[in-house]
Amino acid sequence: MTSFASRLTVWQRAHGRHDLPWQEQDAYRVWLSEIMLQQTQVATVIPYFQRFVTSFPNIAVLAAATEDQVLAHWSGLGYYARGRNLHKAARIIVAKFGGEFPEKFEDILELPGIGRSTAAAVCALAFHQRRAILDGNVKRVLARYRGIEGWAGEKQVEEQLWQQAEALLPNEGVATYTQALMDMGATICTRSRPKCVLCPVQTDCIALQTDRINTLPTPKPKNVIPERHATFLLLMHGNDILLEKRPSSGIWGGLWCPPQFDGEDAARDWFLRSGMQASEGGKLETFT
Ligand code: ADE
Ligand code: SF4
Repeated sequence: MTSFASRLTVWQRAHGRHDLPWQEQDAYRVWLSEIMLQQTQVATVIPYFQRFVTSFPNIAVLAAATEDQVLAHWSGLGYYARGRNLHKAARIIVAKFGGEFPEKFEDILELPGIGRSTAAAVCALAFHQRRAILDGNVKRVLARYRGIEGWAGEKQVEEQLWQQAEALLPNEGVATYTQALMDMGATICTRSRPKCVLCPVQTDCIALQTDRINTLPTPKPKNVIPERHATFLLLMHGNDILLEKRPSSGIWGGLWCPPQFDGEDAARDWFLRSGMQASEGGKLETFT
């Protein structure tokens, strides 16, 4: 069987996306698209991207613009820190690199708003460097393909995913491969109902082999809301109800409340021992 990377690359040529306005473009456009696509879908991004590059055709023009002008072009996209960081980065690129987008991974990583995966995406897509990406879609593909359990927010799980991302990199054709991973994650290995029958790596996908496509990737653990069970004694005398002042610490601290017990037996014991049943001829009612 051919490698993961070559199967993805062959799939990309036939079934991947080839008409996106930032494909086969300069590093500035690749960078801009990666930032816009971080929290926003492709279909939404396209018109914003077009307007942005029409107004700011290169990094020097972007750097010379005011922040307000830049943010006006971001208006409606959300996550405006992305726009502010982009503008700041453009000014740094002019000051430090003469307006040319830097090619060194370490230089790119230092720019505001650019993390490890985005820096690698620009390196791979614009400069054809051998760098691994790991965005949300890629995490999902790799967790399934390699059968990696655990929430990717856990450091150790994220490290395993990065390790796989590096290990699966081809020696050549990294740009096409990177786009293939993104397109596969967006169109085939989707969050729900992945189209495994159409997937180029279905033959050795661990999640598919072990019937775990619906449980991988492991979702973020829910905050467990602690549940407590208690029994309260409703002790009535005419229109009066017996209430006790609760301890000042803990739930309902300092408030008045019917006597609380760990269970009905404890409530009955307390009631019988207190002798009230005999004196009042009272009726015992508990509720939990
Ligand atoms: N999402 C993030 N980067 C992308 C790209 N280059 N093409 C399509 N979707 C993406
Ligand atoms: Fe994703 Fe299915 Fe392909 Fe596995 S076989 S990588 S689960 S689409």
